[in-house]
Amino acid sequence: MNKASDLEPAPQTRGRTLDHAAGLYDWLSPAMMFWQEGRLGREAQRLLALRGDERVLDVGCATGWLTRRIAAALTAPDACAVGLDAAPKMIAAARRKAAGQGRLRFDVGVAERLEYADGSFDCAISTFFFHHVDAELKRKALAEMHRVVKPDGRIAIVDVDVPEGVLGRICAWSGYWLFKQEEIRENIRGDLRRALAEAPFREVERVSRHFGYISVFRIVN
Ligand SMILES: C[S@@+](CC[C@H](N)C(=O)[O-])C[C@H]1O[C@@H](n2cnc3c(N)ncnc32)[C@H](O)[C@@H]1O
Repeated sequence: MNKASDLEPAPQTRGRTLDHAAGLYDWLSPAMMFWQEGRLGREAQRLLALRGDERVLDVGCATGWLTRRIAAALTAPDACAVGLDAAPKMIAAARRKAAGQGRLRFDVGVAERLEYADGSFDCAISTFFFHHVDAELKRKALAEMHRVVKPDGRIAIVDVDVPEGVLGRICAWSGYWLFKQEEIRENIRGDLRRALAEAPFREVERVSRHFGYISVFRIVN
């Protein structure tokens, strides 16, 4: 358990942070994705085609399972995976789980205002974060990813998208009605797609589709 004094202060954001769920997240989250979360995260990681000497940012990392997995694939002494989340309890849990693992760091911060220098990462990844922020923050977060990743760097994003087919519509709208989360409806109505199309990336390609409503995007910065 965290003592309040162990925690960094929560940054200001309109994003739906999950501090309240930090203790249960690793149980609840896979169940809500029908235990397919790992498969989708691994697909996103493969898309980055990482070399062992790179610096990678994981935006909205929660308890950091994917960040740890990425760090484990890095080999050079100055390579690093950085997980960022706006929920201090998530980051505290991520740090505990990563104890002793190298080439890994977790930061409390907000995706719409990243405190990293321009071009300081080779790659960025984000899984199931964009349906936690409103349309304006989706755009700001993408602009920030564009800024902190080097030109020609690789980015992979997995998130709720415009549903296709009956299964896709049932799954997507059930998620919206279950959580009554406006940010999910925005993704369903195409806001993430539009934000990706308008962001100054060199290439954006939707490479796969799951359950008719989750898309995996490969982006070249
Ligand atoms: C559904 S979780 C995704 C976690 C992880 N990427 C995964 O696939 O398991 C979304 C995360 O985004 C975080 N979040 C919400 N608003 C944020 C913001 N503005 N900046 C950074 N993280 C934010 C939440 O605290 C939460 O941990």
